[in-house]
Amino acid sequence: MADFIKIEDDYNGYDLKMFCVPRHYEQDLESILIPYGVISDRTERLARDIVNDMGQDALVVLCVLKGGYKFCSDLLDYIKALNRNSERSVQLRVDFIRLKSYENDQSTGEIKVVGSDNLSDLKGKDVLIVEDIVDTGNTMKRLLKLIAEHNPSSVKVASLLVKRTPRSVGYRPDYIGFEVPDKFVVGYALDYNEYFRDLSHICIINDNGKKKYAI
Ligand code: HPA
Ligand code: MG
Repeated sequence: MADFIKIEDDYNGYDLKMFCVPRHYEQDLESILIPYGVISDRTERLARDIVNDMGQDALVVLCVLKGGYKFCSDLLDYIKALNRNSERSVQLRVDFIRLKSYENDQSTGEIKVVGSDNLSDLKGKDVLIVEDIVDTGNTMKRLLKLIAEHNPSSVKVASLLVKRTPRSVGYRPDYIGFEVPDKFVVGYALDYNEYFRDLSHICIINDNGKKKYAI
């Protein structure tokens, strides 16, 4: 099973005053759960684990937008640094997908992939899906089923976060950055109604923030 850093339920995170947070979000956050520097250092290690596991074959990286863009970008930078500086290297192709699983706030139980070049290009390829967070795991299970229909030679998933929730369907990614408590987290491209993507650290939103940015 994948190694991960477990953030316990009773962990309160860092006081907002200890790090730099945009003024416009100061009233909207409970605490800083994972500072950007720690995210970055953990991502460096995941890059090493991925390169060590992958061997020589070229990899198709599928970045799940929008929330996955920061993690994917930083992860690829670290993989590229390894490629420049070691004897082994993994050639990368990058594609971006967006998933639509909700209609009018209601989960339809199905997902639609939008924005990819063409999923049939994945045939015979080693695929790495890069995601920001696995919450219930429902979305990822459906995405994996959909990708499998295009006959890739292998599929792995790297998720920066996995939420510890009783609603989990039991799905675990191959690479996990952190396991986090069952709270709504924002920042580092994770959003609440499209806000907070412009926040570097992963933070816990407070009631004021939820109310202010509710739709
Ligand atoms: N934050 C942002 N997006 C999410 C979360 C979360 O905690 N869970 C599922 N999608
Ligand atoms: Mg996501």
